[in-house]
Amino acid sequence: MSTTETAALAQAPAHADVPRHVAIIMDGNGRWAAARGLPRGEGHRRGVEALRKVVRGAGELGIAYLTIFSFSSENWSRPVEEIGDLFGLLRRFIRNDLAELHRDGVRVRVVGEREGLESDIVALLNEAEDLTRDNTRMTLVVAFNYGSRQEIARAAQRLAQEVADGRRDASTINADLLETYLDTSGIPDPDLIIRTSGEQRLSNFLMWQAAYSEFVFVPLHWPDFDKAALERAVDEYARRERRFGGLAAKTGS
Ligand code: FPP
Repeated sequence: MSTTETAALAQAPAHADVPRHVAIIMDGNGRWAAARGLPRGEGHRRGVEALRKVVRGAGELGIAYLTIFSFSSENWSRPVEEIGDLFGLLRRFIRNDLAELHRDGVRVRVVGEREGLESDIVALLNEAEDLTRDNTRMTLVVAFNYGSRQEIARAAQRLAQEVADGRRDASTINADLLETYLDTSGIPDPDLIIRTSGEQRLSNFLMWQAAYSEFVFVPLHWPDFDKAALERAVDEYARRERRFGGLAAKTGS
């Protein structure tokens, strides 16, 4: 094979059937650390390193949307030091990595509840979205302080308020409309949801959006997940037949 052909192959998406949107539950940081006698915070720190590799790898594979579950509404029940570690990592991730993400054409979207977060965190999240708004190579959706039930409840509350104010007739509320009130409005539903660490549940993540997603559960803890593991999950996805409630196989995007 010529050098030109090799270079072209390296740039082409590795699979014809690459999912347009991959969402990841990055689980197992604590167990990864415990297995090595390290503090949980070290697991999260190594988790951010894995995240960097996976964002880059997803771009190389031609994945258009990557959503990561980085802090759930339920994570507030963790010890205060661990919450501090996770918030510290988010601060550092945005401060250190935003310029590179921007240079690489990554658009950042943040989903989740911002009310109640410390003001410097909100400012960083806004800065990341504002700076990268017009990028088109890939969208990184950061689910931070996110819970699916809370997201749906917020959407319902806004719609109820419009009805109460006389600005909307209740009969106009349907699934298509409600979807536009979710944090993820404008983002296609995930084709593939990956959860690491061997756990097999959704944990209040994208419950509405996951209606027809394919699930791949990976036995690795998140800090050990890398581009090769992502490719294996994408390969497994490519072997699935998606019917969206119908009879014939369809493509998701
Ligand atoms: C689950 O591992 C992981 C989390 C609760 C947070 C994921 C966060 C990161 C990878 C780093 C932060 C990301 C950003 C963008 C700042 P776990 O602690 O539940 O692991 P365990 O189930 O083994 O205890």
